[in-house]
Amino acid sequence: MVRVRYAKIPIFLLSLSSALILPVGAMATSGTMDLSSMEVKNGIQQWGEPKALTSNGNPQGGLAFHNAVVTNANSRLTILLHKSCQTLAGRVAIDPGAPASATAQFSIWKGDTRLWASPMLHKNDNPVPFSLNVGPYREVTLKVDRQSGTAFTCRCDWLDTAVTYKGRVPEVVDRPESWKRDFVPGAVWRDNNGVPIQAHGGGVLKVGNTWFWVGEDKSKGYNNFVGVHEYSSRDLIHWHDEGVVLPASSLPEEFRSTGVCERPKIIYNPLTKLYFMWMHLDAHRYTVSEAGLAIAPKVNGPFKYVAAIRPVNNSTFRDMNVFVDKDGSAYLIYAAENNATLYIVRLDRSYGAPHRPEVEGVTWARIAPGGWHEAPAMWRYGSTYYLIASHTTGWSPNTASLFTAKSPLGPWVYQGNPFNGPDSHETFYTQSTCVIPAPGHPGWFIYMGDRWNPADLGNSRYVWLPFHITKGSNHFDVDWHSHWNLKDLGTTLKAYVKSLTPGGSH
Ligand code: DGJ
Repeated sequence: MVRVRYAKIPIFLLSLSSALILPVGAMATSGTMDLSSMEVKNGIQQWGEPKALTSNGNPQGGLAFHNAVVTNANSRLTILLHKSCQTLAGRVAIDPGAPASATAQFSIWKGDTRLWASPMLHKNDNPVPFSLNVGPYREVTLKVDRQSGTAFTCRCDWLDTAVTYKGRVPEVVDRPESWKRDFVPGAVWRDNNGVPIQAHGGGVLKVGNTWFWVGEDKSKGYNNFVGVHEYSSRDLIHWHDEGVVLPASSLPEEFRSTGVCERPKIIYNPLTKLYFMWMHLDAHRYTVSEAGLAIAPKVNGPFKYVAAIRPVNNSTFRDMNVFVDKDGSAYLIYAAENNATLYIVRLDRSYGAPHRPEVEGVTWARIAPGGWHEAPAMWRYGSTYYLIASHTTGWSPNTASLFTAKSPLGPWVYQGNPFNGPDSHETFYTQSTCVIPAPGHPGWFIYMGDRWNPADLGNSRYVWLPFHITKGSNHFDVDWHSHWNLKDLGTTLKAYVKSLTPGGSH
């Protein structure tokens, strides 16, 4: 492989010495802080692996650079500047290790205000220099947006990028201070202990005034090494760690470290006063394909494994979800027939088994036969039932499908792709997992998606986006928001959506 090095341009900022004398006790220094020397593991990578940043060569950039920070197109690094930071300067370029078609734009933001933007850069373009007075700002965000249609893994370099400062050294943080109370789709989402949330392929259940989020803990990798993790929240933003409520060790051996436990969801049965966790259990390259059931007397467990079954027709059971209707009937919705067809199956009154005897069209139904859908998320608004599902491309994003029906067992009618705007054909690089009502705003819902990172599944991100349904309508749009707040749902967000210009920012 040819090794490429950017010519190192001596930027005057980088040569500033740290000779300023500070008052005794200020515990402060001054000088130039190179971005590549900052602790950036908390930066927001919108897609792909987190980059270990080093000042002397970056193996993950594919090639060796000095003083380069390599991010992906679709990344954000927010730098906390503290007082007395003065100048931010450097150069930007597409990494020589990026695909030939790589095209991306670099920009620097203060909150929602763009301070600087590069032209749209292509691979092999010369690095573009920038120098900004950041004195007035306490934080700035370095963003890279790929051009729609170009590889999302394309590597992009912040070369020789450094801040001159007096006082505390600049740091890289998860998100701008002003977004701390916002949903930030694609950002690292930390629990009350500051640990990234592990609830992939998850679902959210509201009990009283608390939401409970369960999902796959992939912190140790793809297989079921850990189990099902749960978190609780009063505002859907701040999540308290409830721990692993169904440990892998409590499942039959084939579903532990050599198998998988995917897409767990919880429902509550008021008759038995028990919580039922249904999940997809699998092993041997997804050939076991069964529905797992675990039960607990409390929503936060511990859950006890009960059984693994194939609900109807002995058909395969893979990506799944649950839905409880207003009349108390509960349903399993899942990818059956080796993922070719979605099934919806009514459970019996206990929620612990399928309704028997099974009669197609009466206790269960096929949805979109041969349509190759998975990752179903179902909900009801008014008298219309909605179902979003992805197509079947492993961990890679694809175009979502919306279906609507007047009864859970259908007929379900295909209504197109509900995602709107740039990258909507890739569902904003996500796969559906759940849809919940947005509290306090009738007609508003929250789409919960997984942005899978196949190379490091535990570092997959969550993308939650709000959308509005007009009662009775078979259509709605899910738009991208780089950050949003429940309090903005309604007029503000509607106005904001209308004002969105094409271009995308994720
Ligand atoms: C896509 C599914 O939606 C995920 O839950 C997971 O099963 C992956 N496939 C595995 O490739």
